[in-house]
Amino acid sequence: MDWNDSLETGNVVVDNEHKELLALVKNMLTAGMSGELTSENRKERVEIAVNFLEDYAKRHFANEEKLMDESHYPDKVTHKTLHDGFMPIFSKLKDRVVEESGSLDVALEVNKVIVDWLIYHIMGSDKVFAEYYKDWEGL
Ligand SMILES: [Fe+2]
Repeated sequence: MDWNDSLETGNVVVDNEHKELLALVKNMLTAGMSGELTSENRKERVEIAVNFLEDYAKRHFANEEKLMDESHYPDKVTHKTLHDGFMPIFSKLKDRVVEESGSLDVALEVNKVIVDWLIYHIMGSDKVFAEYYKDWEGL
């Protein structure tokens, strides 16, 4: 799924990182479904993409949490729990994404699990936080 305006939280830093996250997921899926590569090369490329995405997701969550600290966000613990819950979901899929690269099943599952999680999280919790942050900034 590509970025669209309905995903905008209004916080430029957060929005840019979300755009990048979705682009990285897409990049991972594209590498996995590339028909031009040998399966060995494809696996290698997917593995790089997966690791990059994992690092980026961690950094993004940490950045968001930094903004929460800075603004004394009252729901930080709950929000952080959601972030922490994402990593095991990702790790569980990660090995399959590499091992079974080229499989449409895996691509669909990534779409269902990873993309849905991100979209749901962005549309819900992140928007609520961004709204809070905007008010805090305006004080
Ligand atoms: Fe978040």
